[in-house]
Amino acid sequence: MLTGVGDLGGWALEFLARTEGVDRIVTVKRSPWSGPSKSAMAMMGSVFQGHTKAFEHHQVDLADTDLMARLLDGVRPDAILHSATVQSPRRFMNADVEPARRAAIRSATFGMWLPWHLLPAVQLTEAIDKSGIETHVVNASFPDVVNAVVWKHFGHGPAAGAGNVEVCAARILRYAMETSSAPADEISVSLVGSHALLAYGPAAGVPHHFELRIAGRDVTDDHDLNTILMSWPEPINWGKADVFSLFAASAVKNVVALLGTGTTRTHVTSPFGLPGGYPAHVEGGRILPHLPDGLGLDEAVAMNEAAARWDGIDRIDSDGTVVYTAEAGTAMAELGHRCEAVTIDGLALQSERLQSVYESLTTTR
Ligand SMILES: NC(=O)c1ccc[n+]([C@@H]2O[C@H](COP(=O)([O-])OP(=O)(O)OC[C@H]3O[C@@H](n4cnc5c(N)ncnc54)[C@H](OP(=O)(O)O)[C@@H]3O)[C@@H](O)[C@H]2O)c1
Repeated sequence: MLTGVGDLGGWALEFLARTEGVDRIVTVKRSPWSGPSKSAMAMMGSVFQGHTKAFEHHQVDLADTDLMARLLDGVRPDAILHSATVQSPRRFMNADVEPARRAAIRSATFGMWLPWHLLPAVQLTEAIDKSGIETHVVNASFPDVVNAVVWKHFGHGPAAGAGNVEVCAARILRYAMETSSAPADEISVSLVGSHALLAYGPAAGVPHHFELRIAGRDVTDDHDLNTILMSWPEPINWGKADVFSLFAASAVKNVVALLGTGTTRTHVTSPFGLPGGYPAHVEGGRILPHLPDGLGLDEAVAMNEAAARWDGIDRIDSDGTVVYTAEAGTAMAELGHRCEAVTIDGLALQSERLQSVYESLTTTR
């Protein structure tokens, strides 16, 4: 099941439509627009690769947790790929905003938009609880923080996130292949990192742990991680909206790994609610962090918790309340958004308030 069939979810739908072993794909979206059409396109397009899977689409608002619970009970999905968000970051990426204001909004950090990414994930978790079904959730919406909040609040939540550290690790592998001419199976990448590492880079001081081995030899010190993550490969325009296929591919990889029978050696963002991302093995429906020698899980988690400060997140309390850093709080207040913490109880209201702030920031010059 795909909850959210926008840009990222639309790509995921197309990839899943061509994935062996997936025999039924159910899409869920709030508005009547584009969902049935995307589902029908995926159904027809997958025929070219020899697939004749079942496709069905449902128009459901995740806020209606009773209706969603009934749908879940009827469908009983093996896995849910969740990418619903109140408003995509693509809208700001493409908005006509003067450079000084864009810079001010950026300095309030990506964490400012947390309520938009968190609200649908909380609603989905409530619906799953009401339905009583067991399923794997892979959440692509700001998973480094959202998954950690959901797990703290509900005591369970998404098995995995997608993108972010997974994208960084893929880049390092391809870079190492290109610069060393070694085959992929001789290259071992290990990266503990987060959304903040992808967004701001190692040179910004974002905590992380990186190890690169080629043919068993540790060559980490021969490589500048900042160059790899911030400027390679050159043709990719990360500031534009046409890069979400990459993140969708990562989410599909996690779904397939969780449902598969073998062992997938990979990187996973926010496995079982841990903050940030880790090297991991996925097998038997479980994700096992696979850290390099000398690095303990507590140390890796502490690194990613510290890295969240670059996204404006000071800490996540045991009930799931997200407390912003003082710097992010001040930057948000200067934009007219006074918010020291995001609470689960106040989430719907905070999301609405954020919408008004966004409209005022992007329509007034
Ligand atoms: N993990 C990563 O590395 C990574 C990278 C890029 C993006 N992302 C995240 O991916 C998410 C999706 O981005 P996007 O550009 O694909 O967004 P999008 O195009 O706006 O799609 C969002 C989808 O969510 C649906 N939706 C929203 N609220 C809903 C609700 N209450 N009930 C049911 N469906 C609802 C929307 O349906 P309607 O149109 O019908 O409302 C739409 O299909 C964002 O959170 C973004 O930050 C993650």
